[in-house]
Amino acid sequence: MFKIVVLVSGNGSNLQALINNCIENHIAGNIVGVICNDPNAFAIKRAENHSIPCEIIDHKEFLSREEFDQRVLDSLIKMQPDLIVLAGFMRILTNTIIDRFENKIINIHPSLLPKYPGLNTHQKVIENNDKFHGVTIHFVNNELDAGKIIAQGKLKVEKSENIAKLIERIHKIEHDLLPYIVNKFATLEIEKQNDIYYKTYNF
Ligand code: GAR
Repeated sequence: MFKIVVLVSGNGSNLQALINNCIENHIAGNIVGVICNDPNAFAIKRAENHSIPCEIIDHKEFLSREEFDQRVLDSLIKMQPDLIVLAGFMRILTNTIIDRFENKIINIHPSLLPKYPGLNTHQKVIENNDKFHGVTIHFVNNELDAGKIIAQGKLKVEKSENIAKLIERIHKIEHDLLPYIVNKFATLEIEKQNDIYYKTYNF
């Protein structure tokens, strides 16, 4: 069985999409664990609702990024994931974790990278009158939102767009594209996983 671990920090709507797709057999794998760095995140409830083991590791209880990562690494090693999905996980991982799980950590980011790494991507799209916006799924390395791109979902920004509407449209793409790509990992032989071809999907 292909084992997926999901790291989250907030609402967890992408986690929910992954859970639903596993239940419906659209992903040939199981979520064996969730790790959350915020004890108040709604994502925890989503994991509990489906009896998925959820570790709450509050980053505020650690003196350094490395100590926090070491604690997360200890949990990951126990869970033995084939794939680690950062789904709204708002912490930068250090080499402590990245080196141990090379090519096995992917992140979903709400912009057409390399445009707009970091925060407030939707606002930047509106302020700059961009014609297009989207989401990127990429491998995680030790630079912010900079690892090799796996897939992008692209939408055309409407003239009358506001941030709320844009976020809603972006989430919809994320909830389709992330399970789709996770299933690609689950169904490919290990050797081929880091050669997944880059593709843009228009929504
Ligand atoms: C998602 O839009 C995801 O792309 C973004 O956080 C949101 C989490 O939503 N991730 C980042 O900004 C990471 N840099 P969710 O908690 O409802 O899945």
